[in-house]
Amino acid sequence: MNKFLIVANWKLNGSINMISSFFEYIKLHASIYLEKNVIVIAPPTIYLERVYRKIAKINIFLGAQNVDINLKGAFTGETSITMLKEIGVKYVIVGHSERRLWHHENNDIISKKIYLIKKFNLIPILCIGETKYDRDHGKTITIIKKQLDDIIAILGKLVFQNIVIAYEPIWAIGTGLAADPKNIQLIHKFIKNYVRIYDSSIKNILVQYGGSINQKNVKSFISQPDIDGLLIGSASLNAEEFFKIIQISHNFLKNKISYYKYFYISNHLN
Ligand code: 13P
Repeated sequence: MNKFLIVANWKLNGSINMISSFFEYIKLHASIYLEKNVIVIAPPTIYLERVYRKIAKINIFLGAQNVDINLKGAFTGETSITMLKEIGVKYVIVGHSERRLWHHENNDIISKKIYLIKKFNLIPILCIGETKYDRDHGKTITIIKKQLDDIIAILGKLVFQNIVIAYEPIWAIGTGLAADPKNIQLIHKFIKNYVRIYDSSIKNILVQYGGSINQKNVKSFISQPDIDGLLIGSASLNAEEFFKIIQISHNFLKNKISYYKYFYISNHLN
């Protein structure tokens, strides 16, 4: 591992009060963990600017949960990549299973978003993963390959440079059923090897795990060599729980010399 990235995906949760108490907690208890970790908070769009003001002086990056495929025009309710960039967003989540399901986002739309995010020098967090049905029918690898293949077919073999991949098995999201860390390790290794088949020049491939992570199970995931970060939903809504996860990761990984090299990815940002 040469970098570690912890991302909070707040989904459709949060409020002005919640944001105030979340950052109050950080100020009081958690600031010592911010120096050595890459932490991203992705609140709902309406709160991006509020969260940006809170993180302006601390070492946390701003993430968006979505972006539109258009830059401007008659697209009611949407937010463009230039708007996100203007207010300080650095990372954008794309292809989350909830958007694939509820908003019918397919790999074409996801590719268009990745194209724009990279064009404007932000970092996409591409979510991939299979349903319970797919898993039970032994199709996990087939599904993952297809999700990657479709994007490579549209954007080319080098598309995974400067991108974060988040493996989120859909059956593990929000269910409390975190996957078996050893299986996740195998899948992460597969993803990295598969990307390398297309792009042998790629240096770092950062693959996060997401799905029912909490302070009790986090250690079993971060101890796997190919799990390079975490994408956390429910447990990121509670500052105490979220920073407990960060603290455990920090304490476990701090002795790994290469841990501190992850900053390469942040250095790409402007
Ligand atoms: P949970 O951590 O609530 O399972 O959500 C994971 C997720 O979907 C993060 O994007």
